Amino acid sequence: MAGAKVAIIGGSGVYQLPGLSGLVGRTVETPYGEVELWEGEGPDGVPLVFLNRHGRAHRIPPHRVNYRANLWAVKALGCHRVVATGAVGSLHRALVPGWLVLVDQFLDFTKARPATFFEGGEGGVIHTDVTDPYCATLRRHLAEAAQALGFPYWERGTYVATEGPRFESRAEIEAFRRLGGDVVGMTGVPEVVLARELGLCYATVALVTNLAAGLSANPLTHEEVLQVMAEHAERVNRLFWQALPALAGAWECPSCPPPPAGG
Ligand code: HPA
Repeated sequence: MAGAKVAIIGGSGVYQLPGLSGLVGRTVETPYGEVELWEGEGPDGVPLVFLNRHGRAHRIPPHRVNYRANLWAVKALGCHRVVATGAVGSLHRALVPGWLVLVDQFLDFTKARPATFFEGGEGGVIHTDVTDPYCATLRRHLAEAAQALGFPYWERGTYVATEGPRFESRAEIEAFRRLGGDVVGMTGVPEVVLARELGLCYATVALVTNLAAGLSANPLTHEEVLQVMAEHAERVNRLFWQALPALAGAWECPSCPPPPAGG
């Protein structure tokens, strides 16, 4: 089968997709800068675009990722369905490293990133609805794949986005937990918001790499995050391949609103 073209945005530890064939590296020009990505085919000939938001050699920290260019590029290549991965810390002792969370809400604590395509001027002032920011259809297909593979997962969760690149303080994590957060990461916002602004279906597979600050006895390190991610990157990859025929299937999304007028 072929099907709709799907974009996969890899996070920490997901720098390539084993199994992707006919891989062609490309540089895509956007109004926001260049994006390096790969085009290829997944199993069953599904057309795919893959990029890592941190760049090929993980040189771009979360607060400097060019989120606008990345989303613009995948849409320019014809992808209207985007699934992303991200390493996260868990705000619950029971949600341990290796678990997947198909997040359905976010709390945004980022501070200093370009977070919109809509900067006023001739385009006017545009406010985007993000009541339900993540695509329910993509999430359902990912949940079915996780279930079929027997992977441990939560089918919803609230993603707390922090500015980074530092980890959080104990008090911040306690506050986030009281606010209803489930996992914490540094890259989920504004990516999801920009996808909504472009009218794309977008979902994130958050992979728990650690208990958040103050929930475990040890201080957090980036090495720990990368090591756990490396141990479980295969799981994320298998989830994508299992879900891919459904992700690329013939459906009109009933849940994602069209892009805002003027967008
Ligand atoms: N905090 C923020 N970002 C993260 C974490 C964390 O604990 N783990 C992986 N990414």
